[in-house]
Amino acid sequence: GRVGVLYGGISAEREVSMNSGKAVSLALKQSGVDVVDIDINEKAIEQIKEANIDRAFIILHGAHGEDGRIQALLEFMGIPYTGSRVQACSLAMDKLRTKWLWQGIGLPTPDFRVLSEKTDWERTLLELGGAVMVKPAHEGSSIGMAMVRNAKDFAAAFHHATQYDETVFAEALVTGAEYTVAIVGEEVLPPIKLETDNIFYDYDAKYVSEDTRYLCPCGLATEDVDRLSLLAKKAFTSVGCSGWGRVDFMADEEGNFYLLEVNSVPGMTSHSLVPMAAKENGVNFQTLCLKILTETL
Ligand code: DAL
Ligand code: MG
Repeated sequence: GRVGVLYGGISAEREVSMNSGKAVSLALKQSGVDVVDIDINEKAIEQIKEANIDRAFIILHGAHGEDGRIQALLEFMGIPYTGSRVQACSLAMDKLRTKWLWQGIGLPTPDFRVLSEKTDWERTLLELGGAVMVKPAHEGSSIGMAMVRNAKDFAAAFHHATQYDETVFAEALVTGAEYTVAIVGEEVLPPIKLETDNIFYDYDAKYVSEDTRYLCPCGLATEDVDRLSLLAKKAFTSVGCSGWGRVDFMADEEGNFYLLEVNSVPGMTSHSLVPMAAKENGVNFQTLCLKILTETL
């Protein structure tokens, strides 16, 4: 049947999704799949109807595409789609509620506080160990995020983040390495370690800088890889995710892992992390795209 590759969209991560979508579309075409590209906008219902597709490969990041809304639309239209179902997408898109869930079931995630105009900046900073990441609850690609170490910057970072989201929280900074673990079907792929000279793994480090280092194999001992992989799987299934996705972590200096978030539609540019992890397992980009398409509908 005919596959619609849904990308672009109207979120702050539109640019990233354009790149992911074009790469996926090209790879599927090269595999001989009948593909139609759909750059999703406010008229998504009409666009999908007109495209006359049998199934959808969703490669939209952020609001509307990664958060369950397009998934719900496709279910109403009776069109099978890749990746997680509606509820899981919607929960995964909310970093704050995901952390509450993980806390509730005893999975490790850095301590955090919801912020508001009434927040006591000094005190909250102290409670969270003196250095925090300020995060909009529903953004991706580090958009709207900042690292702060004093009360004045904290308030400014909060106000900046409120431009992106009604819900903003602060998370205790874990000063160690950052890792990410991709899951495709039942398989947990080899972890990747991320190293940046930026203050943190921000938008520039993710998409612009040539200096970001990706280590895969990640250099951890086998038992630590197993521990990290198991935690990734638990985190993924606890949110209800299925099909494919990517779980992000920080490690502290003692080697403890802390969950940051789950991405239900991770980046899929040819330089992205899921393709990198797949490659380490001997799976090229084309095969990976086919796998996601056939295994996760
Ligand atoms: N939010 C970006 C696309 C990622 O997680 O890869
Ligand atoms: Mg994300």
